[in-house]
Amino acid sequence: MCGITAYIGPRDAYPIVINGLKRLEYRGYDSAGIMLYDGEELQLSKTKGKVADLEKITATARNKRNGKIGIGHTRWATHGVPNDVNSHPHVSNSGDLVMVHNGIIENYDTIKKELTSRGYTFKSDTDTEVLVNLIEEVKLNEGCKLGKAVQLALNSVVGAYAIAVFDRTKPNELVVARLGSPIAIGIGEDFGEFFIASDASPFVEFTKDVVYLEDEELAIIKIGREVRVRKIHDDQLVDAMIQKLQISLEEIEKGGYDHFMLKEIYEQPKAITDTFRGRLMPEDNFIKLLGIDTYGERFLNADRVIIVACGTSWHAGLVGEYLLEDMARIPVEVEYASEFRYRNPVLTKNDVVIAISQSGETADTLAAIKLAKSRGAFVYGICNVVGSSIARETHTGTYTHAGPEIGVASTKAFTTQITVLTLMALKLGREKGSISEEMFGRYLKAMDKIPQQVEKLLEINDHVKSIADVYKNATNCLYLGRGFNFPVALEGALKLKEISYIHAEGYPAAEMKHGPIALIDENMPTFVIATKHGHYEKVVSNIQEIKSRSGKIIAIVTEGDTTVKEIADHTIEIPETEEALTPLLTTIPLQLLSYHIAVMLDKNVDQPRNLAKSVTVE
Ligand code: AGP
Repeated sequence: MCGITAYIGPRDAYPIVINGLKRLEYRGYDSAGIMLYDGEELQLSKTKGKVADLEKITATARNKRNGKIGIGHTRWATHGVPNDVNSHPHVSNSGDLVMVHNGIIENYDTIKKELTSRGYTFKSDTDTEVLVNLIEEVKLNEGCKLGKAVQLALNSVVGAYAIAVFDRTKPNELVVARLGSPIAIGIGEDFGEFFIASDASPFVEFTKDVVYLEDEELAIIKIGREVRVRKIHDDQLVDAMIQKLQISLEEIEKGGYDHFMLKEIYEQPKAITDTFRGRLMPEDNFIKLLGIDTYGERFLNADRVIIVACGTSWHAGLVGEYLLEDMARIPVEVEYASEFRYRNPVLTKNDVVIAISQSGETADTLAAIKLAKSRGAFVYGICNVVGSSIARETHTGTYTHAGPEIGVASTKAFTTQITVLTLMALKLGREKGSISEEMFGRYLKAMDKIPQQVEKLLEINDHVKSIADVYKNATNCLYLGRGFNFPVALEGALKLKEISYIHAEGYPAAEMKHGPIALIDENMPTFVIATKHGHYEKVVSNIQEIKSRSGKIIAIVTEGDTTVKEIADHTIEIPETEEALTPLLTTIPLQLLSYHIAVMLDKNVDQPRNLAKSVTVE
């Protein structure tokens, strides 16, 4: 978590760093800070709050905005409360070194005690201030340059980091390094300027050439020189591969919407189409998925598939379990990556692990992948961010191609992850012969219609908004669904919780009578997915049970439904599709509902409190 950005080159660094921080704010927004160097003085500004608050304190002081070198930070607090002092950048005791950091130094306390015994003093409670002083201590002790000092210091820390360090005594260079947290280096023409950031979004309008540091790598960045990358542990020189950026400025702006979340909800027809592109071929009755084309045997011969993920991606994984078991008849287990990685799971080389992650940087999912690989399992990634750590760490995989997702609440990532899982399940089912040719063809045609159906579904926005208005003051909500839509109920509850701070629980509908029904009264609305498939009648019975206890029902039903309409307080219709594909539709009204409730409650929809988009710490 935390966003870091830096610039070195001929331009004014201030606007580049500040705009970069705004684009990285999804990574954390507890505090923000910037350091600029104008050739004479270090200008440091930092504050609790958002980048907009930082702008306010720099707006009035011209000398706080000068310099061709700048480093900035937007923080998701780990060590020390969010206040001005704990904000980054942090400066070493001599005043020469300045550093921003994303990650956690686990042995910071031991190092701090050691440095304190040598006379160092600390202003903040952060692990970052300890690390910048450790680098200083190494530099003075060894009499070495900044790059070497950073390397030696990092070899004695335990934890995760992405850092950018500036040395006032060598003002033509920056040193960056990573272990577990991402760093992208944007390269200006003829190496005349460099942009550093946690992802490439801060410099997308300046350059398309980017080097992504791998774990355990350190780069020395000097104007006019190629980027020199070395391995931190053994100093070995690494070939820095320059890649071409695939995102555009337009994709990371709000494009007329009030919030990124709403934009991303509305982007779903396009996002799903982009996920299909070159893969779904209904006219040829064919699905092309490179990862499965090449490694299909691994799946077909697997004892089982284990899906690892966190949060919304975990919910997509649960839908994947229903899909893969139903269509491909492969046993599936779905695991929270954070539990899996520490549980000493039984894994063999006959297991296939699917790791799902929008950001491709989630620390727990990454660690689960490494564990699975170390036990010989084959690991398949489903990621959105191209070139992300998880995409690189997995043996193969499929990108969702949803485009940048900036709202902290995941929306289009969820539907495109389910899209990929559906394509995988169908393809494997066909290869295995567990799905008939006729069914396969029907599914392909139904899949092909999904983007248009989502487009049509989005027209109910005003209706959903009016329902949101009725229930916006609820303090507890229940979400129920069965089968393929049980994970959608979980996801609906998560969406409401994270952006409106209303307590919500998702349950399989039939579980209601084993406990949650005790909560039902006229003040607790229940959102039920009651589409006309599978266990429809049973869900209708659950609705009756709630109604007879004075509960309020908001039901998501299939177009033309009359039974539930008569019982429920409100209904939202979704177009008819195959049962296995309904999660792609039923989730849309629940996303809109959470969005509108959060807006009506005046919450920060895109940056909900205490959260960050990319969870790169444990
Ligand atoms: C979803 O709305 C959340 N922001 C969160 O649960 C998220 O899905 C989770 O942190 C996993 O992120 P990832 O997909 O980037 O790995």
